[in-house]
Amino acid sequence: MAEQITLYYKHALSQIGNPEHGLSIDEINRLGDKIAQITTKMNKDRQAGKLPYRDLPYEDLIRRRVTDLAGKLKGKYETMMVLGIGGSALGNIALQTSLNSPMYNLLPDSKRPGPRLFIIDNVDPVQFGSLLDYLESRLDKTLFNVISKSGRTAETAAQFLTVQEMLRKKLPNAKLTDHIVATTDAKSGTMRGIVQKEGFASLEVPDGVGGRFSVLSDVGLFSAAMCGVDIEALHEGARDMDQRVKKADLMENPAALYAAIQYLFYQKGKPLSVMMPYSYQLKDLCDWYRQLWAESLGKEKDLQGKVVHVGPTPIKALGATDQHSQVQLYREGPNDKVFTFLEVEDFGQEVTIGSAGQVEELSYLSGQPMSKLINSEKHGTEYALLQSKRPCLTVRFPAINAYTVGQFIYLFEVATSYMGELLDINTYDQPAVELGKEATFALMGQEKYQLLKQKIQPVCDIDNNFLI
Ligand code: PA5
Repeated sequence: MAEQITLYYKHALSQIGNPEHGLSIDEINRLGDKIAQITTKMNKDRQAGKLPYRDLPYEDLIRRRVTDLAGKLKGKYETMMVLGIGGSALGNIALQTSLNSPMYNLLPDSKRPGPRLFIIDNVDPVQFGSLLDYLESRLDKTLFNVISKSGRTAETAAQFLTVQEMLRKKLPNAKLTDHIVATTDAKSGTMRGIVQKEGFASLEVPDGVGGRFSVLSDVGLFSAAMCGVDIEALHEGARDMDQRVKKADLMENPAALYAAIQYLFYQKGKPLSVMMPYSYQLKDLCDWYRQLWAESLGKEKDLQGKVVHVGPTPIKALGATDQHSQVQLYREGPNDKVFTFLEVEDFGQEVTIGSAGQVEELSYLSGQPMSKLINSEKHGTEYALLQSKRPCLTVRFPAINAYTVGQFIYLFEVATSYMGELLDINTYDQPAVELGKEATFALMGQEKYQLLKQKIQPVCDIDNNFLI
């Protein structure tokens, strides 16, 4: 089939030179029955509507809703700003940077397939303030897409309130509805309430789909469609991957095999999982994966309520850049990591390295394609890691486009589900993030959390005895 991404797993096997640090095919096969049971369970859960993220790529309605709104709004705005955080931003960033030029915002209007796009997933006053300064003279041509399933997320709410006030003050004669699109829960929540009151155009975060599994819904697709991404091809890639990841046979199912390998290494003392893309375009997709893997799989209790404190730690390292920052540790530090490289065959753009002239020592580079250099760096690093008995996997992209990125997203979402089942935990909740959120509400003065504030204050107050 054209343009399938593939998983290469030979370098995770025991032929890397030391059975302790590689897996035998037998070891992997022994998980086959368990994987078949999990596949059956996941298929049943899916049919019972318990895994709605699995069906997003089949939702024509989502694509129509997003395309219709993008069609109405495209061309009216020079700048678009997405307000969101976590699962309500990381997918948007990943789609934009993997599928549009790294210079997208600097391109002239005639060369850009949509408005300039800024996705600000933080509340840093310098970062946000600078962007507001930049937008001030462009507000009339700016569209804001606030994304929050709940509407009560402090960071997104703060950004939204600031922008709303700025629009009211700076564009007193404009309608807010001409500048704000909200993506939120279809029926309930703070943001849905605001939408109903203000009459904003709105999109939906599908029921039962957590933020980190929502990129293929309205959440990720709207900013992508506004910026010219082929959202039909994204969904098609995900659907085609679905055909591969619903197979019960472990050796035919890349999501199950990826999870099985990660699980076996986790059990064998490798709790760190490094994803290393050899493509600048794929680096933010690794941040998206990092949240997916961490928030889904890091859990205190198993499904029986037993305290287990499980979870592999996902790490991102960009090739070739981080070779010069991390590889010393990766080769000679503790052998507690499994590596997943992302490799691209056809970058779709080439740079020919300049002539070395009389500098004999650099002549090996003269006239060579830069794509050959970055892929040689990948192979060189992989070889070096294998020499140090570090297991490596590779996800190979024939090219980076909406179809292959759709496959990648779906592959890793389903791999996360398999990994959660193998670890016997609830993959879809995130109870541990609540306390920090509530503490922030308390420190910011929310009435409901005043008792909590009294507990927190002594911890937060600086004790001068410990300052040097
Ligand atoms: O994946 C998740 O569930 C989280 O990262 C949320 O997406 C994040 O906390 C933002 O939540 P909300 O969309 O409700 O503002």
